[in-house]
Amino acid sequence: MNFPKFGLFSRFFALFGASTILLGLCFVAAYFVMSEEQALRQLDLRYKAMQAFFKSIESTSPQHYQIHQYAEQIKGDIAIERQGQRFSNITDFPSIATLLEHASPFKAVFYAKYHSKYYLLYQLPDGWVAITSTPFNLLVYSKWVVYWPWLLAITILCASYGILRYWLTPLMDMFSVVKQVSKGDFTQSIERIPNNEFAELIQGVNKMIADLNTMFEAKNELLLAVSHELRTPLAHMQVSLAMSHKDKHIEKVTQDIQHMEQLIEQLVEGERLRSGHQALHLTNNYLPALIDEILAESISFQRIRRVGEVPDVVLRVDVGRFKFLIRNLLNNALKHNNNDVECWLEVTADDNNLTLVVADQGRGISKAALSHLFEPFYRVSKVAYRDAKGIGLGLCLCKSIVEAHGGSIEVESKLGKGTRFIAFLPVCQ
Ligand SMILES: Nc1ncnc2c1ncn2[C@@H]1O[C@H](COP(=O)(O)OP(=O)(O)OP(=O)(O)O)[C@@H](O)[C@H]1O
Ligand SMILES: [Mg+2]
Repeated sequence: MNFPKFGLFSRFFALFGASTILLGLCFVAAYFVMSEEQALRQLDLRYKAMQAFFKSIESTSPQHYQIHQYAEQIKGDIAIERQGQRFSNITDFPSIATLLEHASPFKAVFYAKYHSKYYLLYQLPDGWVAITSTPFNLLVYSKWVVYWPWLLAITILCASYGILRYWLTPLMDMFSVVKQVSKGDFTQSIERIPNNEFAELIQGVNKMIADLNTMFEAKNELLLAVSHELRTPLAHMQVSLAMSHKDKHIEKVTQDIQHMEQLIEQLVEGERLRSGHQALHLTNNYLPALIDEILAESISFQRIRRVGEVPDVVLRVDVGRFKFLIRNLLNNALKHNNNDVECWLEVTADDNNLTLVVADQGRGISKAALSHLFEPFYRVSKVAYRDAKGIGLGLCLCKSIVEAHGGSIEVESKLGKGTRFIAFLPVCQ
């Protein structure tokens, strides 16, 4: 792959270096460039500090002027015109007459603004002293110039932000795609491939996602094929066992075979539901009757307390799957908690949604486990509640069922306090 001559690292380095230098210059400029008001304030300070100096010049005779030492003392340039004589540390100091043409009274002295510089003029009994200051701090600029360093600094910051954002766009694209992939959507890929070092990284990520997708497809196909193939021998075994002499070993084997059948059925069901809505056989059902039917299915459901009345609505659902959903949530509340724990079912409806709540005051589920709860084969504790039989496919199927119906399912839980599963199903299908 051919990258531009200057790699990303050099460009980042150049951008960082250039903005730092430019920002530095802006701050230096902002420090030295003064507005007229600031310059006058400086002049005033300077005048106060120099009153003694002016007085000393007054009492010194011109023959004894040490003009270069004066200039050093005041840290600026100086010119003295007295008794027709002119003394200055620099040759191009403007004449006092010129400065007086531009001068205005300022406190006890005069100031003159001439060629972008400020001069302080002090009148002696027989002449004038004029001083300017260090080259920078008394330079005078028009108002807009005073603010340009700050404007430039803001512009540089905005431009650097824009350029950095532009360069990092591929990374941001990658973040959002990886986020989708982590949620299980392997159809995603990063579309924009930049012409820099990120290209290789992005192509690598795209390939990884495609490979993952192929692997998952292959795994699902294998699972489905094996499940289908296992069904026939299992059915044969069941027939043979039904005809055998009954003893406790045979009963145990029969139970295990039923368990295997259930596992296979759930795996196949999960695969069917991957196609979503099309897999459903929707019929209209009167909700209170449907709930009664489910609760009458098992004696253990007598422990379930009903909260409120079941809404009087006709629901368009796949009956088998809807029953599985509620059955699994109720069974979970019962079998994953102690026998004396209170469990309840609450069904409410508004114009758009049916809300099913199955809750218990049992042992609860840790925060870490909650995020994995709807994953296939996930069981919170394989040890503590080993006798609570289960494969860990129930909630995964519940989620697929609710989503195939256009709804969603949530769980709230606190360790030691209990768990609440809330399923939302759209009323109008
Ligand atoms: N009400 C609950 N209280 C505490 N833990 C729960 C509750 N509901 C689910 N769990 C935990 O979540 C795990 C996953 O539940 P899920 O229904 O998917 O599987 P399962 O009940 O173990 O098996 P099956 O596939 O037969 O339903 C359970 O093994 C259990 O650890
Ligand atoms: Mg379950």
